[in-house]
Amino acid sequence: MNDTFLRACRGEPVDYTPVWMMRQAGRFMPRFAAILKKMDFLTMCRTPEIAAEVTLEPVDALGVDAAILFSDITTTVVPMGMDLKYADSNGPYFSNPVRTEADVGRLVVPQDDEGLMYVYDTVRILARELAGRVPLIGFAGSPLAMASFMIEGAMSRNYTGLRRMIFSNPATFELLMDKIRRHTARYLCAQAKAGAQALMLFDSFAGVLGPRDFREFNLPHVRRLIQDLEGTGVPIIYFGLGAGGCLDQMRDCGADVIGIDAGLDLGVAIRALGNGVSVQGNLEPYVLFQDRDQIGRRVGEVLEQGKTARGHIFNLGHGVPPGTPVDNAKALVDAVHDQSRS
Ligand code: CP3
Repeated sequence: MNDTFLRACRGEPVDYTPVWMMRQAGRFMPRFAAILKKMDFLTMCRTPEIAAEVTLEPVDALGVDAAILFSDITTTVVPMGMDLKYADSNGPYFSNPVRTEADVGRLVVPQDDEGLMYVYDTVRILARELAGRVPLIGFAGSPLAMASFMIEGAMSRNYTGLRRMIFSNPATFELLMDKIRRHTARYLCAQAKAGAQALMLFDSFAGVLGPRDFREFNLPHVRRLIQDLEGTGVPIIYFGLGAGGCLDQMRDCGADVIGIDAGLDLGVAIRALGNGVSVQGNLEPYVLFQDRDQIGRRVGEVLEQGKTARGHIFNLGHGVPPGTPVDNAKALVDAVHDQSRS
């Protein structure tokens, strides 16, 4: 069993630096593109055999040290009453965004696993097929990420709807966050029970709030959610995109690993976080469009900075860009392994 990734999460000694890439499942992989010609994205997510196949593709092709479940953050809240659609041009959106107190009141917190059984079925297939080759990472969007998506209805430029609700109707916002947090806790616990060996929380719009408001409106929900996951016993990774001004708060959120985006210097981030957590990141994703030698040099720089951390999991600062040559992604993985071993 290759447990290098799990060891780095816990800050235990490793023989080399483990590596995987956000958005490795899908997007730039050829098999994913071929399947996407035959069925739509949401059908892929909801068909366990297909979702499992897409999850395994980069494990086989790139030699990464962890698999991440192929799914999306938006599918999770469908059983709460959200109507999820997918536009080929822009991605997922909700046709019934949550705007008022009554909208939030109507959202349900499901009391059984029925509506997301296809995810747990996918995890069970993967636990069997991976057979200990590499650990499987399960994931969900953070309460704030999901609240943003549910209020705006889609990706947004300024998150004005979200900010308006936070500041004009904080009680409604708190109720929304609480409902999402309870549902997400059940969802992540069920993934772990089905066989996920680590859980990652994508706080994809964390940077919308400055440190003052991050502390009041986001951090308590993140902490509470991570507490809810304690019983799973698996490492928790927290990734707060664009929220480099809140590293001191992330340090204390309860996660074992903090994901660092490409907007920060990894060495500086590690000094701010201290030695109580491991880090994951943070190579600029578009370096993958450089040649093999250049990729190797940039990998070396990130590895050097990562040495100062309790544990370092090599990753990109955000997802693999569409159109990334598979050979370059493989070159990156090989470079991380070769350079960190010597
Ligand atoms: O990391 C992985 O490979 C696992 C699978 C995964 C996907 N989405 C598959 C996907 C994960 C972990 C996500 C998370 C996700 N989804 C986030 C948080 C991470 C982040 O980027 O900050 C967000 C905001 C979403 C919502 C989402 N999904 C958008 C806005 C879009 C469209 C634009 C885009 O980024 O591609 C998606 C589509 C999506 N999710 C694709 C994949 C493979 C692309 C599908 C396609 O090519 O048509």
